[in-house]
Amino acid sequence: MTDRVGDTHRREFLQAAAAATGSALISASSGLLVPLPAFAQDPPAHCPTPPTGGTHFVPGQDKRPIGLRKPIGALSAAEVTQLRKAYTNLRALPATDNRTWVIQADLHALYCRQCTNDSAQIHGSWTFFPWHRAYLYYYERILGSLVNDLDGFRLPYWEWESERTLPTSYRTPAAASNSLWDDKRNGGLAGGGQLPPNDGTSARITFLNSITDFATFGGTASGGGACESNPHNIIHNDTGLPTSPYHDMGNLGYAARDPIFFGHHGNIDKIWSRWNAHAAGSGLPPDAYKNPTSTAFLNSRWSFYDENQKVVSISASDVLDHRTDLRYTYDLLALERVPFLVAYACELIIGPDPEVGATLRVDEAVRANVLTAVRQNAPTALVLEGVQIPAEFVGNFDIFAVKGDRRILLGTIGLMSEVGHGMERAPQTIALDVTEAAADLLATSNPASIRVVPRDGGKAFPLKAAKAEIRMQRR
Ligand code: C2O
Repeated sequence: MTDRVGDTHRREFLQAAAAATGSALISASSGLLVPLPAFAQDPPAHCPTPPTGGTHFVPGQDKRPIGLRKPIGALSAAEVTQLRKAYTNLRALPATDNRTWVIQADLHALYCRQCTNDSAQIHGSWTFFPWHRAYLYYYERILGSLVNDLDGFRLPYWEWESERTLPTSYRTPAAASNSLWDDKRNGGLAGGGQLPPNDGTSARITFLNSITDFATFGGTASGGGACESNPHNIIHNDTGLPTSPYHDMGNLGYAARDPIFFGHHGNIDKIWSRWNAHAAGSGLPPDAYKNPTSTAFLNSRWSFYDENQKVVSISASDVLDHRTDLRYTYDLLALERVPFLVAYACELIIGPDPEVGATLRVDEAVRANVLTAVRQNAPTALVLEGVQIPAEFVGNFDIFAVKGDRRILLGTIGLMSEVGHGMERAPQTIALDVTEAAADLLATSNPASIRVVPRDGGKAFPLKAAKAEIRMQRR
């Protein structure tokens, strides 16, 4: 079953918050964090020359022992010391070196079009997961070699679904003497505050594990998947500096200058790895929980610098089996999953006013099926594909089902501005949990409307989708 505890918490929190603010629409933010205003992107002042070409990675070439990547909170004191030493050495490299902290961070900016404006799109497409995995692989090797422990060193990850504050080692001491510290972070989190209660939760991860197709979970050639906007973008926005100049985690051009970027992406990588692990189950469609198999995906190739400052290149197909080929692994949980195996087409009807929101239209037969299932508390998703949101909307946006005074949170969309050159943001797929709200959304009289509520109190965008589907476990 999905995490009912999380859902109950969510409802109680919303009720408490609604009571505290009267009838006004409330955001799910805890109040610990400063709200995010919309912000612009600025590319790094001196974009480095991008590495091109390079020696191809060949699966099997890495013969190191397989090492476990651990949650940051589970590191021993000696491991924290080693991690700090690795970052200290990275930051101390001379500017002529290809591995410097800035060059490594700017590689991320290069590939997210902050610098080059080329068509390589590592956000808002299916290369999101494999590119970041490849990037972390070389980064991990560089850090490991800087402490003479290439074989043993593995990047730790920030398991925000259980570690709800910024890991202590990354924020104290809050001084340059701490190589894991960054001065451009959200003040609430930097001071030890918690993430907003609905952001990056295990309930969200369980929900994503019910999605069986990669396109919805991880994106397509031209559109972003559900995991990218929530939780990936949301945690970026929560961690970054919410006011000018919007560095570091809140700005894709600078995000990788904060060491926590790599902890964050380790966790995203773990979520992808565990999603793939569900493919071993029985009674699933053949492509369930599997990565795309098209050559366009598999042959996507990118260049990086390795620990010897050499230009190397690696393809998406090279990173899919991280255990065998990249020599690291994650603890595998006892996997629970409730796959969504049926999909009903529905229609999202947009009213003229984004503040009023959209309503859902379904066939009578579908309505009856969905309502029967949700009465039995069966997890139900609303999947919106081809959602195009204008680039000026940036920050975290909560989506509610609103019927009368009842407001139920369906999910949050995190938006980062990754297009620095007036290009449009890629369309994306958004997956909302409508289990609690289905009866309101499908009511025959006065159905709930789906409303977008910006956390910063700014303007909402109209929620338009090229295609909408209700997904459930079974007919
Ligand atoms: Cu390339 Cu988390 O961003």
